[in-house]
Amino acid sequence: MDSHSEKNINSKTALLRNNLKVKDRLILSLDVSSKFEAMEVLKKVSDSISTIKVGLELIYNEGLEIVDMVKKAGYKVLLDAKLMDIPNTVAGALRGINKIDVGMITIHTSGGTSMLKNASETLNEICIQKNKSKPLLFGVTVLTSLDDDDLKKLGYDLKFTELVLRMAKVAIDCDIDGIICSPNEVKLLRENFGHGFLIATPGIRLAQDNPGDQKRINTPEKAIRDGSDFLIVGRSIIKNTDIKGKINSYLDKIEGELENDTDN
Ligand code: C5P
Repeated sequence: MDSHSEKNINSKTALLRNNLKVKDRLILSLDVSSKFEAMEVLKKVSDSISTIKVGLELIYNEGLEIVDMVKKAGYKVLLDAKLMDIPNTVAGALRGINKIDVGMITIHTSGGTSMLKNASETLNEICIQKNKSKPLLFGVTVLTSLDDDDLKKLGYDLKFTELVLRMAKVAIDCDIDGIICSPNEVKLLRENFGHGFLIATPGIRLAQDNPGDQKRINTPEKAIRDGSDFLIVGRSIIKNTDIKGKINSYLDKIEGELENDTDN
């Protein structure tokens, strides 16, 4: 099946993708350490996007209550929980997370098949019991801060591209809704596995931005062109003096690229 006909599959993923507005595609990573700083950033964002990523820095500094604060401010939440443990422990954690209602949750694909399958089934069961919609589970592949040298030191003989492919395959086979990878691997994933799953990409930078600790970076245009559904951006936006302006510049780039795609 070619990628164009696959894009038209009337699956849950295609439906979700077709309903995405430009503002839904940019997810701001709220990597600050206090409630005060978080609120200051959110005031400047002022509804220009719909989803905020809350991750380890904010959670370990302020507790999970911060999620409620972000939701009350009017945003959907991607909880970057980066779950990884034995299947029983991860399932227990998901039962807890489910009490706070978030739209997306991350889990490490390196936890393996049993952990991923169990996580997906647990989430399904809880949501059916409680009659509510299931949060999307996103499988983190190789962290965007790692390159081939880092993997070699960890004992992997594979190049990161091959490892991302294998991790993504395991996650897709376990009914994980989305994959997290760098913008440099999106094309490879789409060519190998099609469009029946979502992709979210951190490691996004504009040309003038500092890469910081990220090693596998690329531009928003490249990520969208290759088939990424969501861009996860932190420092490039929140470290800027004009947060709203930088968000708008990202949204313009996303929109421009989506229009190019429709024209072709
Ligand atoms: O500041 P920057 O845009 O690099 O932030 C990227 C965000 O995405 C961080 O919050 C980081 O934890 C998260 N992330 C990542 N690489 C992954 C998964 C998540 O950088 N593979």
